[in-house]
Amino acid sequence: CMKITFTDAAKGDIHGFLVDQGGKLPKAAEALDAETGGLITEALKSGRFEGKTGQQAFVVLPKGSAAKRALLVGGGKAKERSDRSLERIGGLVYKAQANSGFKTLSLVVDDADAGARIALGAKLAAYRFDDYRTKLKDEDKPTLATLSVVTEDTKAAKAAFKPLDAGADGTYLARDLVNLPPNDLYPGSYAKKIEELAEHGLEIEILGEKELAKLGMNSMLGVGQGSVKESKLGIMKWMGGKAGEAPVALVGKGVCFDTGGISLKPGAGMEDMRGDMGGSAAVVGAMLALAKRKAKANVVGLVGLVENMPDGDAIRPGDILKSASGQTIEVQNTDAEGRVVLCDVLWYTQEHYKPSAIIDLATLTGAIVIGLGHHHAGMFTNNDDLADQLTSAGLAEGERVWRMPLGPEYDKQLKSKFADMRNIGGRAAGSITAAQFLKRFINEGQTWAHLDIAGVAWVEGEKAPTDPSWASGFGPRLLDRWIADNHEG
Ligand code: BES
Ligand code: MN
Ligand code: ZN
Repeated sequence: CMKITFTDAAKGDIHGFLVDQGGKLPKAAEALDAETGGLITEALKSGRFEGKTGQQAFVVLPKGSAAKRALLVGGGKAKERSDRSLERIGGLVYKAQANSGFKTLSLVVDDADAGARIALGAKLAAYRFDDYRTKLKDEDKPTLATLSVVTEDTKAAKAAFKPLDAGADGTYLARDLVNLPPNDLYPGSYAKKIEELAEHGLEIEILGEKELAKLGMNSMLGVGQGSVKESKLGIMKWMGGKAGEAPVALVGKGVCFDTGGISLKPGAGMEDMRGDMGGSAAVVGAMLALAKRKAKANVVGLVGLVENMPDGDAIRPGDILKSASGQTIEVQNTDAEGRVVLCDVLWYTQEHYKPSAIIDLATLTGAIVIGLGHHHAGMFTNNDDLADQLTSAGLAEGERVWRMPLGPEYDKQLKSKFADMRNIGGRAAGSITAAQFLKRFINEGQTWAHLDIAGVAWVEGEKAPTDPSWASGFGPRLLDRWIADNHEG
C-alpha cells in the first residue's frame, strides 16, 4: 500500500508539478528548470502537453539533477477544477507512475485542499487485491511507494486529508469484503472481521442463529436455512455524538453468496454473486471511516449475514415465513432473498435503537441495473429532505444516487393468496416493488431511505482510475459525508 505524506519542498525520484491548462510553469519548478538549462520549460511547450486534466509529460533529467525525472501534470482549466477532477488527477498520476520503476514521487500543488483531494484520488487508485495471486511477476508489482504532496500550507493539507483518508480506508475495506471469494467470506468469517473492528473503538455485537430464533427473526433465518454456514447479525456502534441522542442507523444486505436457492440462478456469471454482500460492506466500511475520523455522531450499523443455498433443507417457493414483525411472507421466489433478510434486520433496528433515520443499502435487484446502469444507485425514501441530503452527499463524493418513486399502486403487486404479502411483485417495476416490500417493515413516522446498489457495487471493464478493482467500494464515502454534513455539530 502506498504511503502518502505532505511536505513543503519537492523531493524524491520524480518531481511533479501541477500545471493549469494554458498556464505557466509554477514557481516551484523554476530552480529545477534553471538547473537543467530550461528542460522543463521546453517540455511545457513542445509535444502535445496542454495541461488538460491528468495529462502528463515525463522529463528525463540530466545526471546530477535534484531528481531523476520531472513530471508535468495537467491541472485542467483553473475554472473547471472540482473535487472530482482533482481526484481524477491523483488517480491518473498514480496509474501512470505506479509501475515506472521509481519509488518516490512528489507533486507540487498550490492549494492545500486541492492537494488533499489529489492525494485521495491517488490512494483510491492505489488499491490492490493481490492476496490470491501467487505468480505475480515483479514487473507487475507497483514500485511507487510514497507520494508526497507539496503545498504551501502543510498543516492545512494534512488536516484536509485526514477525513478523506478515513473515507478511503472505508472504501478499501468495502472493496476487500466484496472482492473476497465466498469460500473465505461467509457469515462466520465475516462476523470475525467485524469483531476485529473493535480495535478502532467500535462497539461490536454478533448474534447467531440461536439468538435470532429467540427474537423471532424467522424471515432472515429462512434464507440462511439451506446453508451449512450459520447466519449472523452483525452490529457495530459508534457513539461519538451527544449522550442520549438517537442514533442514525445504517443497515446492509449481507448475502455472502446468492445462488438463488431453490429458484436457482443460471450458471453463467453466478460467481458475481460473491458481491451480494455489497450493501453490508458499505455499512461496515462507513463504520470504519466514522471511527477513524472520530465522527461526532451516534451511528449504529447492522448487517444481516447469510448465504443463500439450494439444499434438502432450503426454503421452497410456496413456503410462508413469519417475520419478527409478525407479518407473514409467502416466498414465491427464493432468489428474491435480500428483502426477506432485510425486513427482519430493519425490524430489529427500529425495535432496539429507535433511530432518527435509517439508510439501508442492498444489491437488491437486477432491475435497478437495467434502469440506472452503473453510475447511480437507486434511492427510495419516504422523506424529501433525506432525498436532498443523500443526493448532495452523493454528488459531493462522486457516489451518486438517483431518486425512484414509491407508491401504493406498486404495493398492490405484493398481494399474496395465502399470506400478508409475497416476496416478488411480478415483472413490472422490480426495483420499486422490492422497495415497497421493505417499506412494509418501516414503522409509521420512521425516516428511511433504501439504496439499491446492485448496479454500482461492482463494475466490469473500463472504469475511472480511482476505481481500479472489480469491487468499487461504493457507499462508505457517501454515508460518511451524509453524516458529516447532517448529523454532526
Ligand atoms: N442479488 C440479486 C440482485 C442482483 C442482480 C444484484 C444482479 C446484482 C446484480 C437479488 O437477490 C436477486 O436475485 N433479485 C432478483 C429478484 C427477482 C427474483 C424478483 C432479480 O433481480 O432478478
Ligand atoms: Mn437473489
Ligand atoms: Zn441477492
